[in-house]
Amino acid sequence: MSKVRLLNFSHGLILSTLFIHYSLADVGTAAQYGPPFLPTTCFGRDASQFPSSNMFAAAGEGIWDNGAACGRQYQVRCISAAAPRTCVPGQTIQIKIVDRAQSSVSRPSLGGTSMVLSVTAFQAIANVSASFINIEFQQV
Ligand SMILES: *[C@@H]1O[C@H](CO)[C@@H](O)[C@H](O)[C@H]1NC(C)=O
Repeated sequence: MSKVRLLNFSHGLILSTLFIHYSLADVGTAAQYGPPFLPTTCFGRDASQFPSSNMFAAAGEGIWDNGAACGRQYQVRCISAAAPRTCVPGQTIQIKIVDRAQSSVSRPSLGGTSMVLSVTAFQAIANVSASFINIEFQQV
């Protein structure tokens, strides 16, 4: 009797661990954009809020959240792309949202993606010659 209960308990633990892992991360797409990086929507247009590491992104409409996305941080991983071997294996980056993709001065390599990574952020996880990649991303 107690053996069965223990088995059920550990089984439930494993299932909830899997569930938590998959429920936190979203799957989407990322394009890229290059300079000039001029703030148009976030931080009262104060470019000093941009991370000096250049690891930032503009939010797609799906995560823009009426401007609440400004300053949010995401971990981003490349999962696949149209061309094979585009993703840099095992690389995860952390980026800060600094703009809205729809109104960025420098235009994205593709419209309608989940987010638009700065070229510095993009090339840390993928071959920079790709116009977009499939990503897994998670707010931190
Ligand atoms: C990046 O992609 C281009 C075009 O597919 C290819 O010619 C180039 O070799 C790739 N670079 C690397 C470092 O894999």
